[in-house]
Amino acid sequence: MAVLKLGLIGAGGMGMSLARAAKAREDVLFVGIADPVAEQASKAAAELGGEVYSSYADLLARKDLDAVLAATPNAAHCEVVLAAAAAGKHVFCEKPMALSVADCDRMIAAAQNAGVKLMVGQVLRLIPGFSKARELVQSGEFGKPLAIAIERSSFWRPRAWRREYQPTGGVLFEINAHEIDYMRAILGDASSVYACISTETCPDSDIPGINYVLVRFKDGGIGMLNSNSLIPQGQYQVAITLEKGSIRCDWSSVSYQFRDREAQTVPEEELKAMLPGVQREIDSFVEWVLHGKEPLVTALDGRSAVEIAQAALRSGATGQPVSLPLQSS
Ligand SMILES: NC(=O)c1ccc[n+]([C@@H]2O[C@H](COP(=O)([O-])OP(=O)(O)OC[C@H]3O[C@@H](n4cnc5c(N)ncnc54)[C@H](O)[C@@H]3O)[C@@H](O)[C@H]2O)c1
Repeated sequence: MAVLKLGLIGAGGMGMSLARAAKAREDVLFVGIADPVAEQASKAAAELGGEVYSSYADLLARKDLDAVLAATPNAAHCEVVLAAAAAGKHVFCEKPMALSVADCDRMIAAAQNAGVKLMVGQVLRLIPGFSKARELVQSGEFGKPLAIAIERSSFWRPRAWRREYQPTGGVLFEINAHEIDYMRAILGDASSVYACISTETCPDSDIPGINYVLVRFKDGGIGMLNSNSLIPQGQYQVAITLEKGSIRCDWSSVSYQFRDREAQTVPEEELKAMLPGVQREIDSFVEWVLHGKEPLVTALDGRSAVEIAQAALRSGATGQPVSLPLQSS
């Protein structure tokens, strides 16, 4: 059996979720964990196996390392992927892929030039409810998808590195990279973006908390993201409008209705029987690297989410719609 010798860079909350999904597989062996916080790295190594490194450069220098999972804070994604590619290691990089399209392009070029695989953790489309809703859209039974509206609202108190706008890229990168990717997963590539961003910030942070984004898609679809991190009565809801009906989903349910019929709910058991999204994305990465099986999400998906988020920030700042592809300012 082929075995993937894996390393983890950034052993925080998400790094450990990814690593546990990888560890659940028989064909993965952890050889090293890199995190500048010694306690984080040691705790992770005790659970996953492998040696502890305070610097990811030392982990990447290992000859026996095949690939890494990169789950550092957002601002470090680009430098970690460039270093991994330069060392000839395949990389799974957490979302947001980077904080600018220019950096995404450098990462993609570096992976291509080095002949390594680069996958980005746009996991929402793989999470059971969202995945099932997408399957319903793709079944064609509802006709063409026309529009998607997503509300993601909560009262968000960012902690640690997430409190600062610069290293996170703000809410549209740190949180809504997911919803932006999901809009694309339903409606295809975007053609223009318009955004209104409130100046009111999240508590103890310089991150604007209310981000409303409208997206036009090349195939004629339209999308609306209501991202509000300052609303104590938070909720999560996706509504997809199609030619013959509509589909709604959230983290735990999916329902649908044809225009001329009663509403239906997808049985809870069906969603519970599906693999968790993080397991699916890690399985896909490992199977891509070991067996060449096409990945479920690509680096270009990660890049497109960054492009839309960056266009939204530009639109928010100028008050004008922004056409894609994004031109350098
Ligand atoms: N896909 C998802 O649903 C999801 C959920 C949460 C977080 N994330 C993403 O995962 C990434 C990490 O988020 P988190 O919640 O795990 O944050 P975290 O703060 O829990 O963990 C980050 C870890 O990275 C380490 N780190 C910082 N700089 C490093 C460096 N140069 N080299 C190696 N390690 C370094 C920190 O010490 C920390 O242990 C972020 O990009 C975030 O957006 C994705």
